[in-house]
Amino acid sequence: MLASLLPIVAAASLIADQASEQAGPVDALFWFITGVSAIMTVVIFASICFFAYKYRRRTAVHATQIEGSNKLELTWSILPFLVMLVMFGWGADLFYKAQNPPTNAMEVFVTGKQWMWKVQYPDGSREIDALHVPVGTPVKLTMASEDVIHSFSVPAFRIRHDVIPGHYDSVWFTPNKPGKYHLFCTEYCGNQHAGMTGWVYVMEPREYANWASGGGGQGTLAEQGQALFQQFGCATCHLLDQQGRCPILRGIYNKPVQLDDGRTVIADDAYLRESILDPNAKIVAGFQPDVMPHFKGQVTEENVIQLIAYIKSLSPSTPASQQGGGQPTPPTPSRAARAASQANAAKPGQAVPR
Ligand code: CUA
Repeated sequence: MLASLLPIVAAASLIADQASEQAGPVDALFWFITGVSAIMTVVIFASICFFAYKYRRRTAVHATQIEGSNKLELTWSILPFLVMLVMFGWGADLFYKAQNPPTNAMEVFVTGKQWMWKVQYPDGSREIDALHVPVGTPVKLTMASEDVIHSFSVPAFRIRHDVIPGHYDSVWFTPNKPGKYHLFCTEYCGNQHAGMTGWVYVMEPREYANWASGGGGQGTLAEQGQALFQQFGCATCHLLDQQGRCPILRGIYNKPVQLDDGRTVIADDAYLRESILDPNAKIVAGFQPDVMPHFKGQVTEENVIQLIAYIKSLSPSTPASQQGGGQPTPPTPSRAARAASQANAAKPGQAVPR
């Protein structure tokens, strides 16, 4: 019965395209849970009707008291328990995979802001309310919010993740079907929340390489970060090759850092972001608090992403995709400019903020 309904439901577009490697397994679990729920609903409802009729009150029939049956009660407790354990195990497996992007994933940075999605690529190019990815490549999005809680959702990929102000969230997917898919904000974030949408373009690898060959007009993400590093005076205390007033940043990315309170933390994106915005939150062993000014309100989330890209580029072991490319790219035609014209075509009058 359910199976015969599926084509009708799919045709009515209640079910989004399956356009990522994650979509099939997520749907399988969804239909398993939906199927079990439907079967149980029918069984319970039919039993209620059957017993209500069979044991209805009649004259001249005396009720016999039944004292219970251990066998029956154990059966209807243990069987559903096992079925739910399957749901739990299956769901936990998918959840675990969703939380752990492969190390070779292409990295893209997404900043949510009332009411747009700003996208930055490691090569320094950027676009608004649009994301271009090659088919068959795992893509990891590192997401931040500049104001309120947003939620990044691409139904065709079966991904959704809240983007919370104050820290990084990430989500990953492997697109497996070229095409154009809707991107939504799925958390009410103000009066133009409904307009905070965009498109994800999944391209054939060659088409993508062509599209990406433009490069960023202002250098790679790491080069943009390096310029900020000079501009904000970071370089006067964070010397690259000798000890200054602040820790040496070369080679620290994703390495353990000893703090003055005895803890050891990993210098990942979240740690670097916190240390830029609120340097006193974690003091490295052997250094003093209040040496570095805090940059909260001084730099945007996009600037923080650029600075982190620069610090990453100082760690040679980081995969190339996370280093922000590095090979020189011809400045024109700028991918950012093309992306901007696309964004403007979708939303007339909207400029790409620098
Ligand atoms: Cu952003 Cu809703």
